[in-house]
Amino acid sequence: MSKETKSQAKPWLSSRRRSAIPAILDPIRRLFEPPQRLIGSYVKKGQVVADLGCGPGYYAIPMAEIVGSEGKVYAVDLGKHSIRTLEKKAKKHGYRNIETHASSAADLSFIKDRSVDFVLANGLL
Ligand SMILES: C[S@@+](CC[C@H](N)C(=O)[O-])C[C@H]1O[C@@H](n2cnc3c(N)ncnc32)[C@H](O)[C@@H]1O
Repeated sequence: MSKETKSQAKPWLSSRRRSAIPAILDPIRRLFEPPQRLIGSYVKKGQVVADLGCGPGYYAIPMAEIVGSEGKVYAVDLGKHSIRTLEKKAKKHGYRNIETHASSAADLSFIKDRSVDFVLANGLL
């Protein structure tokens, strides 16, 4: 499988970012912290979920894949660079169900009805 095809099939494989955990280590991280397996028990098709402190989307992209076009992922991070990286990945791979916010997780007033089905806050301060 070509590099391009592989990255299109599993978009969370590809990322370029500034982060405490460089993207090059993602394959190793996935061995110990497989995102789809970890969130798969909680996140279901059609749900509205929030990833607080989403970074460049290690969990937000798999969450978007699971909830599908009927669902939605609110992806929130203080870091504008992380949010831009996630937006590029989402656009490249056609995820229209991720709503990004470069802001503090302390203000979630943009969430409709102030209600979601699941919240992930991994590594959030
Ligand atoms: C260790 S990274 C984890 C990223 C992602 N959750 C993951 O598991 O790969 C923590 C992220 O949380 C963000 N963050 C920390 N405190 C935050 C806050 N109060 N509001 C929004 N984002 C925050 C940082 O900018 C950083 O991108």
